[in-house]
Order: sequence, then C-alpha cells, then structure tokens
Amino acid sequence: MDAPKQPTTIMPTAKRKDDRLWGGRFEVAPDAQFDAFQRSFAFDRRLLPYEIAVDRAWAKALEPIGIFTAYEVQLTLAALDRVAKRAETDPEWLDNFGADAEDVHHFVEKALVEELGPLGWKLHTGRSRNELVATDFRMFVRDAVTRTQHGLARVAQALLAQAKTHFGVPMAGMTHMQHAQPILLSHFLLAQAESLMRDIPRLRGAAENADACPMGSGALAGNSFQIDREGIARDLGFSKVTANSLDAVGDRDFALDYLFALAGIAGHLSRMAEDYILFASQEFAYIQLSDEYSTGSSLMPQKKNPDSWELIRGKSGRFAAALIALLTTLKGLPTSYQRDLQEDKESLFAAHDQINTMLAVAAGAISTTSFDVERLRQAAANPTLLATEAADYLVRKGVPFRQAHDIVGKVLRAAEQSGTPWLELPMEALQQISPSFAADFAGTLNVASAVAAKKVSGGTAPESVRAAIGDLESRLLNSGAKP
Ligand code: ARG
Repeated sequence: MDAPKQPTTIMPTAKRKDDRLWGGRFEVAPDAQFDAFQRSFAFDRRLLPYEIAVDRAWAKALEPIGIFTAYEVQLTLAALDRVAKRAETDPEWLDNFGADAEDVHHFVEKALVEELGPLGWKLHTGRSRNELVATDFRMFVRDAVTRTQHGLARVAQALLAQAKTHFGVPMAGMTHMQHAQPILLSHFLLAQAESLMRDIPRLRGAAENADACPMGSGALAGNSFQIDREGIARDLGFSKVTANSLDAVGDRDFALDYLFALAGIAGHLSRMAEDYILFASQEFAYIQLSDEYSTGSSLMPQKKNPDSWELIRGKSGRFAAALIALLTTLKGLPTSYQRDLQEDKESLFAAHDQINTMLAVAAGAISTTSFDVERLRQAAANPTLLATEAADYLVRKGVPFRQAHDIVGKVLRAAEQSGTPWLELPMEALQQISPSFAADFAGTLNVASAVAAKKVSGGTAPESVRAAIGDLESRLLNSGAKP
C-alpha cells in the first residue's frame, strides 16, 4: 500500500514524565515495593502471542471507524510483527525491555512506541486492559484445552495398545482390594482409559465457555467508536462476541472450568498411579516398570521405585489447590473488572504445564510397562474367584439367588474345615449341602467360562472387550482429541 498523501496527523506530544499507562493524574510515583507487587509481566508475558494477535485484529478494526488510516494500520501491523519476532528470538531483550513493563499490555505498547514513535500510542484507542486480558486469557485456555486433550488421547492410546497386546490374559479382579472375580487384563486397562475419555468433554466445555470475544467491552461499559466486534471476534477465531461488557471483563468461568477439568484428570491419573504402584510391589508383582520411568534408592541397591507414578499421584493436590484458589478469588467480587482477577493466571499456567507433563509421563510409563502374564494368570486361577459362578450355577438349576449364595458359603466353609480345595470336594459332600449340585458342576467352573459368561456390553467377556476396544478407538477418533 502506498503512503498516504497527507502525513499522519499525530504530533509528538509533550514529553511524558514516564511511560506508565496511567500516570497523568498522579503526582507521586508508587512505592517501590507496591509497584513490584502489582506488576504482572513476569508471568503474563506468556500471553504475548495472544496480545499481539488481539492487537493486530484491533489495529485493522480501527481503520473503518476512521481512527487509523490504511497506512497507519500497515505500519502498526508491521511493527507488531517485528515486536513478535524479536520477543521470540531475543529473550534478553524481552527480559531487559520488559523489566519496566507493568504487564504484557504495557510491554507491547512500549515496544510499539519504540518502533513507531507517537503512533504507537494510538492503538489503545477505545480499549482497556480489562478486555485485553480477558481476551488473551480466553485464547490461552482455548489452546490449553487442545494441548491437554492431546495428552489425554496419548494416554488412552497407550492403554489401548497394551489392552490389544494382552488380549485374552485373565487377572484377579478386585473390589475392596480383595480378590473378587476373574476379569481380562484388557478390561482393566480399558477401565482406566474410560475415566480419561470423560475428561475430554469436560475440557471441551471449558473451551466452549472461553469461546466468546470480549473485545469491544472497554473497561466495563462498551466501546464508543462503533468498533466491529463481530469482525474482531472472527479474526481471532471466536465464534461469537460476549453478551455483556460488564460481565465480559469480570468473567473467569472458562478458567474455572479448565481447572476443574484438570483437577478431574489429575484425580484419574492419581487413581491409575495407585494401581500401578501396587501392581509393581513385590506382593503383587503383576508388572515391571521400565527403567526409563523408575528411579533407584541412594541407599538400597536392589530398589527400583515407581517414582513416575508416585509423583503423578502426589501432584494431584496442586490441581485441587489451583481450583480452590480461583474459586476463592472470584467469590464475593463485585460485578465487572477488579484487580483481584490478576490472580487468575499464575496457578492456571502452572497447572497447565504440570498436567501436560504428567500426561506425557503417564503415556510413556504405560507404553513401556511389562506385564507378568504368568503371575496375572496365577492370581486369576485362585478357585475362590469362582464362588459367584457356583451360585449362578445353582440359580440356573432353579435355586433362588439368596439361597444359592448361602449354599456356596457353606460349601466354602466345609472345604476350609476339611482342608480340601473347594472345587475338589466330592459330589456327595456337595449334595449333602444342596441336592441341586449335579455331575455337570465341576466342568462348568473355570476362569475362561467365568470370564466368557460376562458377555453383556461393558462386561469382561472377550467378545465384549473386543467390541469395547473398537468402540473406544472410534470414540477417541471422533472426540477431536488427537494423540
Ligand atoms: N495485569 C492485569 C490483569 O492481569 C491486566 C488488567 C489491568 N487492568 C487494570 N485496570 N489495572 O488482570
């Protein structure tokens, strides 16, 4: 685009006494300690790419309403590009130049003024940091959701891969940490994957709540220049604009939703961690964790500790803390923007970083775990796991279930008293307890038939588990979460 015939109308104004965004009505500079206390650049610099994107959209929207000429838009966009590039490639500049920036919004304005002179001061026309920070943060959460969904999908994939590799291997299913009924190992692994699948729509909910653009809300009241809110929203990838300017600058529900989703994921990972820690213990010895995801003891040479899972389990507290912290900050805030809202970012950024690392570590630890198939089979072969099957056998012979339960209990007690494994009790002994026992009893009771009997959908029978694997794979594919 050609330079305009008329030079830009901006005249250098009287030299400002400092470059604060709000110094005009103040006589005395802020107390140094308070000044450091109120600054947020140290952490909100993370929003810089979003701030620049919003600035670009805003610069373009200032032209049709006559604030910027086309040439000024062009100059501003080019300067924003240079600022973005320099921030990416010159961390020292970011630190040094950012040292006197109050926040990321101030930083960009300072950088623009360096690049453009007084034209840099024009971009902030009709807008407020209150709407900027709300917009930047929504954009961050939107991208954060995508990254976290990614991480979830990778863990689910790792579980699916192990479930397929070990298809058909039985294990002792437990409730109350007591052996209960035989199940397939694949069924167990899919159970863990299911919990993570529920986290995907929760995260999506956070992204949906973040999907409205506050720009045009001003500090609280709206915009006096008829700025094209819908155009800006579209430009920034939002599907709509926020409905109320007061609400828009004070709303952080999308951040709460994200933190709640993370607390849920952390809880799920923590439960999985407990399973693997127990299974890696000498008592269970169902699994061997790979060296890559274990550590040793500084004292005991034989130790191989499941620290990857212990740390994942231990970190779950942070997520509850981040959620409670924001809930507490928001509670009791008057409608519209309050500076308390600056407290929304640090713990959310930290929670985001932690969860994504935890998901990557969990995926790696699962993929590299080796299962002791023999040991799992042995545990599944514990004959008491078939007690429920025996009761079901009697039910099929017409015995009411409660009575059948009682009969099998008596059989187990008789076996214990006589010191005989209960499946080896002679038929006469069984028939003394219940005449419904017949010759076909012994043949029906084994691990494979107990597992195969659970052929309802969602059950542990091989055909159900095979269907569940296919179903989970297609849900994962359609969930929008790409591994
Ligand atoms: N650093 C502030 C925050 O994170 C940006 C908005 C500041 N607004 C203000 N009126 N001081 O919330």
